[in-house]
Amino acid sequence: MNYDNLMRECFDLARKGSGKVLTNPMVGAILIKNGQIISKGYHKSFIEDHAEIDCFNNLKESAEGATLIVNLEPCSHFGKHPPCVDEVIRRKIKRVVIANLDTNPKVDGIKKLREAGIEVITGVLEEEGRKLNEKFFFNMKNNRPLVALKYAQSLDGKIATGSFDSKWITNEESRAYVHKLRSEYDAILVGANTLRQDNPRLTSRIEGGVNPFRIILSDKLDLYRNYEVFKENFDEKTYIATISKKDIDINAEILRCRQKDGRVDLKDMLKKLYERNIGSVLVEGGSIINNSFLEEDLVDKIYQFIAPIIVSGVDSRSAFIGEGAKLIKNSKRFSIENIIRFGSDVMFEVNNVYRNR
Ligand SMILES: NC(=O)c1ccc[n+]([C@@H]2O[C@H](COP(=O)([O-])OP(=O)(O)OC[C@H]3O[C@@H](n4cnc5c(N)ncnc54)[C@H](OP(=O)(O)O)[C@@H]3O)[C@@H](O)[C@H]2O)c1
Repeated sequence: MNYDNLMRECFDLARKGSGKVLTNPMVGAILIKNGQIISKGYHKSFIEDHAEIDCFNNLKESAEGATLIVNLEPCSHFGKHPPCVDEVIRRKIKRVVIANLDTNPKVDGIKKLREAGIEVITGVLEEEGRKLNEKFFFNMKNNRPLVALKYAQSLDGKIATGSFDSKWITNEESRAYVHKLRSEYDAILVGANTLRQDNPRLTSRIEGGVNPFRIILSDKLDLYRNYEVFKENFDEKTYIATISKKDIDINAEILRCRQKDGRVDLKDMLKKLYERNIGSVLVEGGSIINNSFLEEDLVDKIYQFIAPIIVSGVDSRSAFIGEGAKLIKNSKRFSIENIIRFGSDVMFEVNNVYRNR
């Protein structure tokens, strides 16, 4: 039997957990018996049941002899929940069909299933499954959040004018896609200057959008409570990552980080965020922090939106402002993963060639 279409349906179910499962994978599960779907489930949020258990909970009949289609290998260890494989065995499932093996070293569900006499088919739409859970696989491999930069630039590579104006470089379609991205990342991060200049809300303003955590990077902590990110009563928290010892009365949690060359040590900040179950960070500028992430070799991905305008000017801002490479051969290299047109704009999704596999 070909399981491709059912696996695609699992991916669609899994996506419903986007932005809510944090460092966990997005997983969907379907049970079929006598050629009929008898139940569906998915992992709804970080603290809730795994997809297989949700699928069993939605059952109206016995699962004995059924085939379970699930995009990730069922877990075999005690984490926040008991092992899913035990429940699969207890329910007398006949066959399990999987897209991806779980790269979490604690998980070896397949071995346990096979030992219990259950047929296991692996590698169904493996590549699509890997892309779906790109952030999770990255977390498992690198033990830190995936960092993606997003910026909007002109044809001549400018993200703001010399007077710091940047509204709006790209069109509405591009900006709607950014709100979708915000919904898919666990946190959005901006530098203190971007907060001061643009006063963004950093929310996902699309239908069904999930608001991410907000992170402000500020060495000096010269920030005021009337910025939008500190005003609203968000469902997710705002963090300020700083090296300052100052106390400020603001609606945010202060993350006191180690310092490196007089600035927030980005690796230390990412470690602290990962400890708080933040598995992916969308960095939305500006040029100074973009460059700091680049110099620390912490840019895993970039979403570069390009609008057909030319800003020019010696003082206008490029996406990265720093010392830069002396020789082209020393430039940081990326690979183009995807190119999308949004009306008159174009977006390049690029991956760091060394990190993403
Ligand atoms: N077109 C776009 O896509 C886009 C996106 C974002 C921003 N922008 C534009 O970019 C301009 C602001 O960018 P900017 O380059 O001046 O500043 P920025 O990158 O937004 O912020 C730099 C500030 O971040 C803080 N910081 C803390 N730790 C740091 C670290 N490790 N490395 C670097 N910075 C650290 C410091 O804050 P303290 O000063 O508090 O110490 C530093 O002054 C605005 O005009 C904005 O409109 C454009």
